[in-house]
Amino acid sequence: MRWYEVRPVRFVLIGVALVGPTAAILLSLLLAGHVEAGVALPALLVNVVVAVAILRMIQTDTRRLTDYAEVLGEASAPVPPPELDSITAEFIASAMARAQQAWLDRESKDAGRAGLFEAVIDQLHDPVILLGPGREVRRANQAACRMFGDRLLDRDLASSVRTPSLLEATDAVLAGGASRSVDVLLPVPVERTLQARVKPFRTPGEEGPLLVLLTLHDITMLKRAEQMRADFVANASHELRTPLAALIGFIETLRGPAKDDPAAHERFLAIMFDQSNRMSRLVNDLLSLSRIEMDEHSPPTEQVDVAKIVRNVAATLELRAASRKVKLRLDLADLLPPVVGDEDQLSQVFQNLIDNAIKYGKEQTEVTIALTAPVGSKAGAVRGPAVMVAVTDRGDGIARTHLPRLTERFYRVDPARSRALGGTGLGLAIVKHIVNRHRGRLIIDSEVGKGSTFTVILPAVKGVATKREAG
Ligand SMILES: Nc1ncnc2c1ncn2[C@@H]1O[C@H](COP(=O)(O)OP(=O)(O)OP(=O)(O)O)[C@@H](O)[C@H]1O
Ligand SMILES: [Mg+2]
Repeated sequence: MRWYEVRPVRFVLIGVALVGPTAAILLSLLLAGHVEAGVALPALLVNVVVAVAILRMIQTDTRRLTDYAEVLGEASAPVPPPELDSITAEFIASAMARAQQAWLDRESKDAGRAGLFEAVIDQLHDPVILLGPGREVRRANQAACRMFGDRLLDRDLASSVRTPSLLEATDAVLAGGASRSVDVLLPVPVERTLQARVKPFRTPGEEGPLLVLLTLHDITMLKRAEQMRADFVANASHELRTPLAALIGFIETLRGPAKDDPAAHERFLAIMFDQSNRMSRLVNDLLSLSRIEMDEHSPPTEQVDVAKIVRNVAATLELRAASRKVKLRLDLADLLPPVVGDEDQLSQVFQNLIDNAIKYGKEQTEVTIALTAPVGSKAGAVRGPAVMVAVTDRGDGIARTHLPRLTERFYRVDPARSRALGGTGLGLAIVKHIVNRHRGRLIIDSEVGKGSTFTVILPAVKGVATKREAG
C-alpha cells in the first residue's frame, strides 16, 4: 500500500483539498491587507468546520456502505439500503440493491432448474445411482430405492447389491477404467435381468474426486424373447427333423432290403405319407402363425356372424367326432351381436378348440359349444358388448401348472400323446395370436379328471343384436 492509500493520510489529504484553497485565498487577502485578521480567521474556522462535517459524512456513509455490502453478501432475501447522508452514496446503495435482486433472481432460476432436474431423475423408471470414491452410495433415485431398499444411501454398494461382476466393474471404473456394462441377475422377488451401465463421473466444473454413475435397465423381456427365439428355432428344427429322419430311413429301406417286397412297400408308403402330411401340417401352421403375428397389430374390420362360423366348423368336425363317438352339442343364445372379425381366422380358432376337445376329451362323451352375449364380470375382460364362445369337454383335464404355458408354441402336456394324435403343438399358440388380433380374451379353466373349458371372448359391434337363424 502506498503512503497516500493509508486511511488517516487519505482523510488528511481530503481535508487539505477541502480547506486548502479557501485557506490560501484568505491568507493572500490577509497578507495583501484586503481583509482583517478578525474576519479571515472566523471564515477559516467556518471552512474547517464544514470540511470536518463533510469528511465525517463521507466516513459514516463509507462505513454504512461497507456494512451493507457485507450484509448483502450473506443475505438470501433482498435487503433495503441503509439511511445515507450523501446522494452519491444513496445512488451507490440502490445500485447495490438492484445488483443483489438480479443475483437472487438468477440463483432462484438456477435452483428451480436443478430442482426440476432432480425431480425428473427421481421419477425415472430406471434406477440411477451415484457412487462416491469409496463405492458409497451418494445419491439414488426412487426406482433405485424401490429395487435395492431404502437403506441403500451412504453405504457401500456391496451391502445392497451382491453381484460380483457389478462390484468389480464399479471398482475398475473408480480406479480410472473406462465405462462398461454388465448384466445383473436379481433372483428375488421375481427373477429379473438388468443391464447395468457403469460410467465415470465428475461434477462439471469442479476438480472433485472421481465418482461413478450407475444406471440400470430391466432387460428381462429382451432376454426372454431371445431365449424364446432360440427355443423356437430348436423346437421347429426338432419337429421337422423327426418325420424327415423317418422318411429318409424308409426311402433307404425301400431302395435296399425291402426293394422287392410289395407288402413292405405298401406299409412303408402309408407311413411315409403320414410323415409327409405331418411335415406339411407343421410348415402350414408355422406359416400361418407368422402371418397372424405379422398383422396382429392391425385389427380386422369386417363384421362377422360368430354363430354361423361355429356351426360351419362343427359341421366339418362331425365325422372326426363320430370316429371317437363324441357328440357335439351347440348351445346358442337367442340374440347375438355381430363381431368385428376375420372369418377365416375365427374359423381357425374354433377348429383348433373343438378339435382339441374331441382329441383330448373321453370317447363317448359330449363336447358342448356354448355361445352367449355376456354381461357383467366375465364380459369385464373385454370392454363393451361381447360374444363368448365356451368349448367344454369331458376329458382328463389339465393340471394347473400347465395352464400358463399351454399357449406357448410346441408346448404339450403329454408330447407323445399329442404327436401320436398328429398334433403339431402350435394350435393354441395360433388361437392366442388370433384372439389377440381381435382384441379378445382366451380363458382356460380345467379340472383334472373332469374336463376343460376353453372360452373365447370377442368384442362385439355396439348396439346391434341379430336374432338366431333357425338351424
Ligand atoms: N381340451 C384339452 N384337454 C386337455 N388337454 C388339452 C386340451 N387342449 C389342449 N390340450 C393340451 O395342450 C397342448 C397344446 O395344444 P395345441 O392345440 O396347441 O396342440 P396340439 O393339439 O397338440 O397340436 P395341434 O393343435 O397343433 O394339432 C396339447 O398338446 C394338450 O396337451
Ligand atoms: Mg390342437
